[in-house]
Amino acid sequence: MSRLVVVSNRVSVPKGRGAAGAQGGLAVALGSALRESRGVWFGWSGEETDHFTGDMNMQRNDGVTTATIDLEPQDVEEYYNGYANRTLWPLFHSRIDLAEYKTDFGRGYERVNERFAETLFPLTEVDDLIWVHDYHLFPLGERLRRRGAKNRIGFFLHIPWPPRNLFVSLPYHERLVRTVLEYDLIGFQDEESLENFELYCQKELGLEIGEDHCLDYEGRHVCLRAFPIGIDFDEFMEGGKSKQAKEAERRIRESSRGRSVIIGVDRLDYSKGLPERFDAVGRFFDTYPERVTKTLYVQIAPPSRQDVVSYQRIRETLEQKAGQINGAQSEVDLVPIRYVNRGYARRELFGFYRASRIGLVTPLRDGMNLVAKEYVAAQDPEDPGVLVLSQFAGAASQLPSALIVNPHSEESICEALVQAQDMPLEERKQRWSELMESVRANDVEFWRKSFVEALVGDAAQPKG
Ligand code: ADP
Ligand code: G6P
Repeated sequence: MSRLVVVSNRVSVPKGRGAAGAQGGLAVALGSALRESRGVWFGWSGEETDHFTGDMNMQRNDGVTTATIDLEPQDVEEYYNGYANRTLWPLFHSRIDLAEYKTDFGRGYERVNERFAETLFPLTEVDDLIWVHDYHLFPLGERLRRRGAKNRIGFFLHIPWPPRNLFVSLPYHERLVRTVLEYDLIGFQDEESLENFELYCQKELGLEIGEDHCLDYEGRHVCLRAFPIGIDFDEFMEGGKSKQAKEAERRIRESSRGRSVIIGVDRLDYSKGLPERFDAVGRFFDTYPERVTKTLYVQIAPPSRQDVVSYQRIRETLEQKAGQINGAQSEVDLVPIRYVNRGYARRELFGFYRASRIGLVTPLRDGMNLVAKEYVAAQDPEDPGVLVLSQFAGAASQLPSALIVNPHSEESICEALVQAQDMPLEERKQRWSELMESVRANDVEFWRKSFVEALVGDAAQPKG
């Protein structure tokens, strides 16, 4: 069996399985996927250095070997804060109004991808399978090939691939896609992203794609597929039995004093639809004043990418909105919104989810959204809560038994909240068991296996 070399910008160096933080779905999923295979995880340490040396910090933790490098401050500014998070992230989440196209960002992005390639290449062995992750590293495969890598190299995009009419606003869009086509296998979260990418290749590059979603490109055989990511079901359920999870559940149940709890758990990111969600909850309280004393909305939102202005703004906006709604609706002994800017251990999240009647997940765009799946997994089968889910999360196509809402519409969210609060036990059980089946079957292990098998399997096909 070949060794698996996983590459991503962010590498989670575990501080123990219960560690708290806001690392996002990629780190959570890859940590789990790697524990299952004897692999190496390569990426940025999250630290800065005055001069890039390419020295690696190797660690072995929890069965996973991590190899990380430090980057220079200019790299971090142009590559991570710049091209990745001020250009690609907003564009790929259809926020073209926030996307900034700056030459320095593009240069920094190329430079850091080159630095990744330069450091990673000597570490690889000829029969390693190399699996590159996410929008920070689109050009890495091409950079490795230029250095002579003949390995099977796969790429998985954790965020949506945008529609063609938006994507073409990116300067040098064609160059970016041509570098992506250097991979042997390109994975997306859902069919919509896959279609968007294929349509671009057909219309803009004039490429022919077969019914099997493969194409011949510059003498190589390249395959495109959707591989919806999942949670580490077994690990999450195991954590749910812990003292920490039970204690967290008790904290919410006791302090909510019988009120019906709505929970949101998101990185503080404009793609998560948080201001729209707060407005919808405000409207719910205005429209149904009799429900104010019977409801508690807990929003956990740890800060993310705080060097980027749009992330600082969203934080201010939310503080204002939470303050306004609480100011208008609170009593001396009752506050309807608890807004918390910190991370929690995953076991604690399990307890919070379990104590909540409603899981409110309303991103404006999301590659998948693992929180939706975690909420489902944490429910009590005898008295499950209701998932309210945005139609624009990748998870929506996998979880149709949720109450699917339009996150831009306050009315749509309000109606779903009422329906969820009033939903009879039998209907809750029915919907939940359908959701649970999908969450269990499409877990992170299934995702990893499907991708790796496709990456290996496609190798058997004739090249060129
Ligand atoms: P994204 O990757 O965009 O952040 P996902 O919903 O796919 O969104 O993944 C988020 C992951 O981060 C989930 O596994 C979730 O449990 C975790 N997470 C989110 N907020 C917190 C928090 N406050 N504390 C700890 N973990 C969090
Ligand atoms: C999303 C992205 C990941 C990223 C995570 C957290 O899940 O797809 O690539 O790691 O957000 O963001 P951060 O910028 O803190 O790594």
